[in-house]
Amino acid sequence: MNEKSLHHSWNGEHANKFAKSMENMKKSRYIPFAKKIHQFVNKFVMNNSPVILDVGCGPGLLLLEIANLIPNSQLIGIDFSKDMLQIASEKVKQKELDSIIFKQGPAEDIPLPNAHNDVVVCLNSLHDFNSAKETISEVYRTTKEDGIFILKDKNGAFPKWKVILGFIPLICKSGFKKTLKYFKSNELWLNPEKVKECMEDLGFRIVYLKKKLDYLIVGKK
Ligand SMILES: C[S@@+](CC[C@H](N)C(=O)[O-])C[C@H]1O[C@@H](n2cnc3c(N)ncnc32)[C@H](O)[C@@H]1O
Repeated sequence: MNEKSLHHSWNGEHANKFAKSMENMKKSRYIPFAKKIHQFVNKFVMNNSPVILDVGCGPGLLLLEIANLIPNSQLIGIDFSKDMLQIASEKVKQKELDSIIFKQGPAEDIPLPNAHNDVVVCLNSLHDFNSAKETISEVYRTTKEDGIFILKDKNGAFPKWKVILGFIPLICKSGFKKTLKYFKSNELWLNPEKVKECMEDLGFRIVYLKKKLDYLIVGKK
């Protein structure tokens, strides 16, 4: 897999804008993925109070949905961006949830000990990290035996013309300029087959893979 350098900052104004725009995407982005996570946890994880880590948690919206669906889980969000974590902490405080904690750190060097998590989740972030391979290796290290890694991201191998067609509703909703900016990030999207290969090389057994404009992959340690 190609390793790319950090393509833009996630601090300051960018963090605020991102968090604000994601507020409207609870129904389309966070709740459906949290439901999938719930299903996979029920199927593959024995621990009734699972430790769940969200790598690249951003404004923490996925963690809030997981807390709703799996109330007995212990949740951790890590992110490189201090500002993103500040926003996430505020949201958690407002909901008076003490099951969610945050740690600042890079996905390529997760600030947690070996075999710490029952579940690691990652939503639309892997392609943004500096190194997908180092991240997956760190996810493996911090996952317990029999734990799982649930990864959802944009599919870099999806035919370009289909990506463009898929963006038509987005143009209507968000405008051409914003859609074009989003489309440009397409250059960073990873090929799910390469991600799968990398996960297998690092020791995960793939138990689920579905590819469309997004891909969803689950690896078991
Ligand atoms: C596209 S956002 C997705 C955030 C969140 N998963 C969501 O869906 O709302 C990508 C996130 O990855 C974080 N990030 C980028 N590079 C990182 C790195 N090397 N280590 C940890 N976090 C990183 C950014 O700060 C940002 O919050």
